[in-house]
Amino acid sequence: MATQSLPLIQKAQILGDMVYSPMAFAKILGISRQELIDKEAKGTLPPAKRNSRRERFYRPEDINKYRHFLGLPPLIPSVRKQLFLNFKGGTGKSTISASYGFRLAQMGVRTLLIDLDPQGHLTQCLGLNSQQFPKTLFNALIEKEEIEKIVVKTDLPTLDIIPSNLNLSPVELSLFSMNSREFRLRRLLSTVEKNYDLILMDASPSIGLLNLNAILASNDLIIPVLADFLSYHGLKILFETLSTIEEDFAFVFENIFIFLNRYNESHRICKRSKQALETHYEKYLLNTVIRQDTKIAEATSQGTPIFLFAQSSKGAEDIQSLIDEILGLKGADHVG
Ligand SMILES: Nc1ncnc2c1ncn2[C@@H]1O[C@H](COP(=O)(O)OP(=O)(O)O)[C@@H](O)[C@H]1O
Ligand SMILES: [Mg+2]
Repeated sequence: MATQSLPLIQKAQILGDMVYSPMAFAKILGISRQELIDKEAKGTLPPAKRNSRRERFYRPEDINKYRHFLGLPPLIPSVRKQLFLNFKGGTGKSTISASYGFRLAQMGVRTLLIDLDPQGHLTQCLGLNSQQFPKTLFNALIEKEEIEKIVVKTDLPTLDIIPSNLNLSPVELSLFSMNSREFRLRRLLSTVEKNYDLILMDASPSIGLLNLNAILASNDLIIPVLADFLSYHGLKILFETLSTIEEDFAFVFENIFIFLNRYNESHRICKRSKQALETHYEKYLLNTVIRQDTKIAEATSQGTPIFLFAQSSKGAEDIQSLIDEILGLKGADHVG
């Protein structure tokens, strides 16, 4: 994957250059611009911030406050821990989870992204040079450093990340000889989850102790699949593994979501794979399909979430529906 090696501070400014116009903000709240302005004038909503030209603006961290004043519940009522996993590589785990998490942070959800892959792709998808971070999850899981010390804040105040790079790779070996080696991530997260609404993890495509830790620490499993035969086979292996985990640890996910990625409906193989998934995994398969979109691939290579790179692309549209469907946000209260 191509990446930019911009220093954090530079990129973090891009992430943080996040203000909403009254129109965009009203749309996120599910009301009209006029309603927003009227309610501010009446004092039912707090007054907007003003820039040097006296124009109104809002920030992502205002969203939950305004929802509260409108009598709406928070977008995510209690913390959810979600894991993007598939033992097959290249299905879009890193790309889609980066934009998914970034978008929710943009929508005011306090989000922690955790990169579980020593290749650091999630980190890179956010435009961060993964090599610049001396600390990864390794330091917290193995060396017992406080997790707060390895969390990187971005300029988007609702978005934090635990980055990854090759420093994470000895984690498998180190975990192996530790006590309660399968539950260390779950315990670690319990110390920070009060600070977040969403903890989103991007796994590497492997079966190992770190991924087992991630599974046992999550509420929801999110599985991107491609519409081809190998992906279908990969899914079978994944579900077999999950049933072993269920037996060994009496653990079941609260939710499992499967979605098709890089879908092209003009390809016969895509349609056939979709039908096979509908037949065999109906219970888990989401209605949302993420279409093949070169804008998604370009955004990845630039290290920019699709919502910054091409806000009105079909990729952005599809990832927004994925978010809405998974979190049950269907309705008026988000940006279209
Ligand atoms: N919907 C899509 N349309 C086009 N390209 C995509 C799409 N989803 C992912 N990609 C591209 O596929 C490649 C693999 O994605 P990646 O997120 O790295 O997969 P994984 O993390 O599962 O290994 C990346 O180059 C990414 O940009
Ligand atoms: Mg990946």
